[in-house]
Amino acid sequence: MGMAINNLPLIREECEILHMTDKQLREIMTRLHNDLVKGLSKDTHPTATVKCWLTYIQDLPNGKERGKFLALDLGGTNFRVLIINLGENHFDMQSKIYAIPNHIMTGTGIALFDHIAECLANFMKEHNVYEERLALGFTFSFPLKQMGLTKGILQRWTKGFSCSGAIGEDVVQGLKDAIARRGDVQIDICAILNDTTGTLMSCAWKNHNCKIGLIVGTGSNACYVEKTGQCELFEGDMSKSDMLINTEWGAFGDDGALDFVRTEFDREVDSNSINPGKQIQEKMISGMYMGELVRLALVKFTRMGLLFGGRGSDLLFQRNSFYTKYVSEIESDKPGDFTSCMDVLEELGLSHATEADMAAVRHVCECVSRRAAHLVSAGIATLLNKMNEPRVTVGIDGSVYRFHPHFHTLMCEKIAQLVQPGISFDLMLSEDGSGRGAALVAAVACRESLGCA
Ligand code: GLC
Repeated sequence: MGMAINNLPLIREECEILHMTDKQLREIMTRLHNDLVKGLSKDTHPTATVKCWLTYIQDLPNGKERGKFLALDLGGTNFRVLIINLGENHFDMQSKIYAIPNHIMTGTGIALFDHIAECLANFMKEHNVYEERLALGFTFSFPLKQMGLTKGILQRWTKGFSCSGAIGEDVVQGLKDAIARRGDVQIDICAILNDTTGTLMSCAWKNHNCKIGLIVGTGSNACYVEKTGQCELFEGDMSKSDMLINTEWGAFGDDGALDFVRTEFDREVDSNSINPGKQIQEKMISGMYMGELVRLALVKFTRMGLLFGGRGSDLLFQRNSFYTKYVSEIESDKPGDFTSCMDVLEELGLSHATEADMAAVRHVCECVSRRAAHLVSAGIATLLNKMNEPRVTVGIDGSVYRFHPHFHTLMCEKIAQLVQPGISFDLMLSEDGSGRGAALVAAVACRESLGCA
């Protein structure tokens, strides 16, 4: 038997390009800050990459919201319909997940809305509210230019959606039209919102310091509480002091602002995507791309002869075969243990991997996920510094944050290093913001008796 050669040091060296120094992270913070200001300002908004959309949400929940609401949640891996009962200090919720088949994700906007309306009607039948007229909050997690709480013009698709005839159209109208085409159910659409705002609202229901909402899931994005006076594009009632801003920071880097830290793997993920050149920061962070970044690095090291004895597998060389959940699984193994890693490699047809290979695979996963956590942390620290409040809770949701074993800890450490002294923060998992948050926004709208659409 030949001597086993340990290539780990060489692989570590190759992975250095995935490491971002604090100096680089601080540069990223400066650039993101400038882009946030550009997004908020009237003159620079049209050309800004980080759009900072107004959400028209100006009131946080006060815990007194009551009632029965429907909610729709579109924009992650699944589509869900929910019914939520808000009561005193508690809420109950029932929901059902519906698949969005690929032909609908990439079909026409009309077919997408017809599908949503059909799922909604079926859900109402099953939950015996088919005859009732209910208020609905619609969590629609794509970039919207909002003109009010019930009007939002779709700007671009992200996360693998590409329905035709929808960009430039009002999404609320699209849903209303689909419901009207059916003619069987009565719905009052009270609000359209982003998943980040839902997450913030859901967290703020119990925690009044919650002023940032963050998603690290299929996509990545954040919203925060801004002073109305800073929102130059807002033309409504200036008497309320605050406004939630949907930053759409996934698009940060679309003008090249992140090129100084991007790698060959990032460029390849981007050029193989259905939206090349768009959502550059999102492609370095989120669950839709993380596994593929790992795979591309593994392919490179295999071709260099540093991994698997230079012998890959059909699956390893196949696009998107390395799921992001594998990253979480592999990093969940205790140090020195490779049980999950071995399972994953077997699934990929790489059962010839040695223990040294497994250590290397795990190192690649760690570098990719740590870089994502650091980039998100730089973003959150930028928002915290900009808000300059002594204590802020960040409500967070999304599969990467939820299931990756170290993401939370990595973020706590890095934000603490990057944030201005005197500002303290908490990172809190926000339970089901897209559902409960939608109900809360609808409830606050009812409380304020703003008309529903
Ligand atoms: C994408 C969407 C954004 C959403 C995020 C997380 O970045 O454009 O609206 O909040 O994904 O789902």
